[in-house]
Amino acid sequence: MTDETALQNLYDRAAAAHMQPLWVNTKGYVPREPAPAIVTAHWPADTSIPLLRRAGEIVSSEFADRRVLVCNNPALPPFSPTTQTLYACIQLLLPGEKAAPHRHSQNALRFILQGEGADTIVNDKPVRLRRGDVVITPAWAWHGHVNTSNNDMVWIDGLDNAVLKLFDATFFELPPHTGEIANEVVGPANTGFDPDWHFKWHDTETLLREQQASGDPDAAHGCRRRLLDPKTNSDPLPTIAAHMTLLPEGFRGQSYRSSDSVIYVVMSGEGRTTCEGEVIDWKEGDIFTIPTWKRYSHQASSEAVLFSISDRAAQEKLRCWREQRGDGPVQIFGLSG
Ligand SMILES: [Fe+2]
Repeated sequence: MTDETALQNLYDRAAAAHMQPLWVNTKGYVPREPAPAIVTAHWPADTSIPLLRRAGEIVSSEFADRRVLVCNNPALPPFSPTTQTLYACIQLLLPGEKAAPHRHSQNALRFILQGEGADTIVNDKPVRLRRGDVVITPAWAWHGHVNTSNNDMVWIDGLDNAVLKLFDATFFELPPHTGEIANEVVGPANTGFDPDWHFKWHDTETLLREQQASGDPDAAHGCRRRLLDPKTNSDPLPTIAAHMTLLPEGFRGQSYRSSDSVIYVVMSGEGRTTCEGEVIDWKEGDIFTIPTWKRYSHQASSEAVLFSISDRAAQEKLRCWREQRGDGPVQIFGLSG
């Protein structure tokens, strides 16, 4: 028989020594399945774009450095990420504006939502931005933006800040002198620009149309392409997986869940995503997020294109990624046949 007094005495002494008995809350240490702290959330363009444009009227790009509105998951405190690992930010660069160069240990990408003609400059290489393009900015690559066009540019920044915060491995650097990025400050590991960091919408759409023409769309995701480095056939960033999805008009997707929480951005079209009783009616420019291991399904009332990011790239490396389609078997990455 356990001596309750002795046991409590043990617990008290352990707590005083900053130690906890594992057997008291084993489920808390190792839950049987994910219990995400984040919630399903929706940032409609009807709200976000006017806020961003108002920021464009009263906040200069010099003042803000980056004129960005961060999508905070409503279940988390202010300045928290969009999911538990990734940030989705919406950025406005007006004609004639610049965003000064910098580099950081976070991995980032940009998805161009509106506009054409600005450049993002990655390791001294200007990359012309067009709607639907995705530009990769790997960790520690110099990057800045300049808009010499007459168009307002709106894009979504996706970043893995919360992963780096978990590691407490965030580093940030400005060029040693202001102005353009100088070749001499670009380290040997970061010289040059890999053309495969630029996924042009024209190329992505061609691949999606080929998939659409070839036959059956995926039951859950319609026509979908993972944006992979063609040289390695792997995600161009170590933490973030990015997909482009084309949902044909009238598409009604099968229920699906996966261990990566996903951020969706609606490039075009209208539809509805249902996630365990929550209904998100979305249209162009909307952003929404699906928490880890929640069942969801897409419907498209018109042809729709969705861009999405998640931490699946990191989870596959950690061998914890899994998915389930409908009531089918759970497929575990690296273990399922
Ligand atoms: Fe940056």
